Amino acid sequence: MAHSGSDAGETWPDGVSEAMDLLRIDVGADVGEERPAREAALFSRNVLRKQRHWERQLAAKKSKRKEEKQRRKLNREPEADNPEFSKRVMKAITKERLAEARSTGLKLCVDLSMTDGMSDKEVSRLAGQLRRLYGSNKKAARPFHLLLTDLVEGGRLYRECLRMNEGFLNYMIDMTEESCLDLFPPETVVYLTPDAEEALETVDADKVYVLGGLVDESIRKTLSLSRARELSVHTARLPINEHMVKNNNAKNFHSKILAINQVFDILLTFSATGSWTEALQACFPPGKGYAVKASFTRDSP
Ligand SMILES: C[S@@+](CC[C@H](N)C(=O)[O-])C[C@H]1O[C@@H](n2cnc3c(N)ncnc32)[C@H](O)[C@@H]1O
Repeated sequence: MAHSGSDAGETWPDGVSEAMDLLRIDVGADVGEERPAREAALFSRNVLRKQRHWERQLAAKKSKRKEEKQRRKLNREPEADNPEFSKRVMKAITKERLAEARSTGLKLCVDLSMTDGMSDKEVSRLAGQLRRLYGSNKKAARPFHLLLTDLVEGGRLYRECLRMNEGFLNYMIDMTEESCLDLFPPETVVYLTPDAEEALETVDADKVYVLGGLVDESIRKTLSLSRARELSVHTARLPINEHMVKNNNAKNFHSKILAINQVFDILLTFSATGSWTEALQACFPPGKGYAVKASFTRDSP
């Protein structure tokens, strides 16, 4: 349920609205009391600080929702807006596209060979990210040919995918216990890792892109780079340095490490538009502390 904020006619989410009410009560209660002036000033500064904090959080949430909406719009098939296409027809089209992608689509493997060192919570998060990644591919006008490699049948991740992801066994995705190098020549493989020196310039039908099936962000840094070195394959990072700059945020937090489904959304949008700017603008998570360089945005002169 949403509440209406009295000040700006805004709609506040429950938690924020209640906190704002409390702040208002606090301020009101203080007016009649005879506090020493310094204490009162300090108190109202704290109230103001809290209020600004809530406002910033609200603004961040709003912008996140806007970005999500834009991303979904960009990745959506044009027919989805057409009421003439019934759910059944759309399902058939999706099925056909995914089948076609298996022979002609851009190829992307998720390397699931590194789950042994993961906690149950991480395995569960990875299963959720695989569901979102597949969901994005299903909605795309030109889906990728997806492969889950090194997926052990009956293993922890497999069982978690079965538990969490409805219809997992019917996913139109290749699932195999083999590794990407058992399936493709090493010279065609490009392992995507945030720690690569080279930036990815384009996506190419002759290459096979690999994402590391990892969810950790801090504990095991450079794990996917080490894995790529072990396989002796090319590496590439998303061209974040080339197209984005750090933005100011309350926590001064900046990270270029994304979840596999977020990287995949960027690749999907890039393959549909041919523009990194558009792909990063639409799909780079706002909470990571980066924004597309002003000189690249559509609104700029
Ligand atoms: C959560 S990240 C894993 C981070 C981990 N510390 C590592 O060793 O890479 C999961 C996967 O997403 C892909 N990825 C995430 N951010 C990326 C970036 N900026 N550029 C290229 N690939 C990225 C990589 O394939 C990575 O293995």
